[in-house]
Amino acid sequence: MSSIETTKFDTRPGWKVLNLNQNASWRFLLDEVAQKHLRDMIKSTFEKDRPIFDYHADEFDLGPAHSPIADAMDMAHHNLGIALLSGLPHNDISEKEFELLNWAIGLQTGVARPQGIASQYISQVRDIGTDYRAKTGRGYSSNASLDFHTDGCDLVTLACYKKAKLGGRSMISSSVTAWQTLCTERPDLAEVAHYSHFYFSRQNEQAEDEGPYYRQPLFDFEDGRFFAKWNRNRVRTAQLIEGVPVLTPEQVEVTNLLDEILSRPEIMMKMYLAPGDLQILNNHVMLHSRTDYVDYTAHKDKRLLSRLWLAPPDSVKLPDSWGAYFRSTDPGTVRGGIRGQQYNELCLDFEKRQAQYMGMPTPHQPLLPKQTE
Ligand SMILES: [Fe+2]
Repeated sequence: MSSIETTKFDTRPGWKVLNLNQNASWRFLLDEVAQKHLRDMIKSTFEKDRPIFDYHADEFDLGPAHSPIADAMDMAHHNLGIALLSGLPHNDISEKEFELLNWAIGLQTGVARPQGIASQYISQVRDIGTDYRAKTGRGYSSNASLDFHTDGCDLVTLACYKKAKLGGRSMISSSVTAWQTLCTERPDLAEVAHYSHFYFSRQNEQAEDEGPYYRQPLFDFEDGRFFAKWNRNRVRTAQLIEGVPVLTPEQVEVTNLLDEILSRPEIMMKMYLAPGDLQILNNHVMLHSRTDYVDYTAHKDKRLLSRLWLAPPDSVKLPDSWGAYFRSTDPGTVRGGIRGQQYNELCLDFEKRQAQYMGMPTPHQPLLPKQTE
C-alpha cells in the first residue's frame, strides 16, 4: 500500500468483541444514591407541555450521577468509542420525564444537534411505520433491520425506556478494526475507500442551503486520528438522484466487503439495551446497526428509546472532507446534525445559549463549502 496511514493513528477504539468482553472499563453503573438523585431531579423539574428549549442547563444538577456520566462520555469520546451506562431511573417515571432526563444529561454534556426534516433536537426511537428503504426513509422511526451506519454527529446517546417484545438487538462494530482488516486483506480496496468520493443522499431532509446529497471518502485521517463514515442506505438512495455518479465496480466491491467485515462474529458486538441503559457512541470510530423487531400490542409497552445527537466542547479537529456534512471541522465547535426544514430563531437561540454554557464558540449559520466536480 502506498501512502495510507494504516498504523499511525490512535488505535484505542480498534477493539474486537473479545476485548470488550474481557474489559469492563466501558460499562458504568449508577448506584442507588445516583438513581434517586436523578429521579428526584426530574420529578421536581418536569412540567407537562413545557418545550425542551425552555429548560436551561443550570436547572439540572446531576449530583452523584455527574461523575459516572462524565466518565462514560469520556470513554466513548476519547477512548474505546463506546460506553454503556446502566441504571437510569425508568420504572416510576413517565416516558416524557425519561426523555427530559436524557435531555438533561445532554445539557450537561454538549450542544444537542437537530436530527431530521422537522429539525427536532431529541428523537423518540419508536416504530411509527416508516419505510426505511424509501427515498425519504429513516431508521429510527421504523421497525426494520438497519444497515451499519454512522449517525450525523460527534456523539450519539440512546436511552432505553422500553424493550421490544422480540428483536431490536443493537450491533456495534469498530470502524478502526474494520479499516485495519480492510488494509490487511485488500489494500487496493482500502485505497478506494480512502481516496475516492462516495455520495450520500440527504433523504430529502436538506435545509435551504443544502443540496440533495453530499460526498466524502469513507475513511479519512486528521491530527493522528481516524474517521469513518458509512451508510449503505444513503449511498444506495443517492444513486437514484440526478447528477450523482454511478458507483464504480471497485466502490461496490469495497462497500460489500466492508459490510461483510463489520458483521463478522469476532468484530460485531451484539447487545440488547435494557430499560434504564444509556448507550453512548463516538460516530467517527464506531458503526452501529440493529435487528428488526416485533412490538408488544399495547402502545404503552412498545419499544421506545430516546436519542440525542451531541456536539461536545472537547471534540477534535475533523478532516476537511467531513466539512460538507458537518459544516464546521474546527475542534470544540457546534457542528453536525441534520438542520432540516424547521430550523428557526428558537433553534439558534438554544444553540447560542447552550454553547455559551459549555464554553464553546457562538454558533452561526456558516454556508456549506461548495462541492464541485
Ligand atoms: Fe443510527
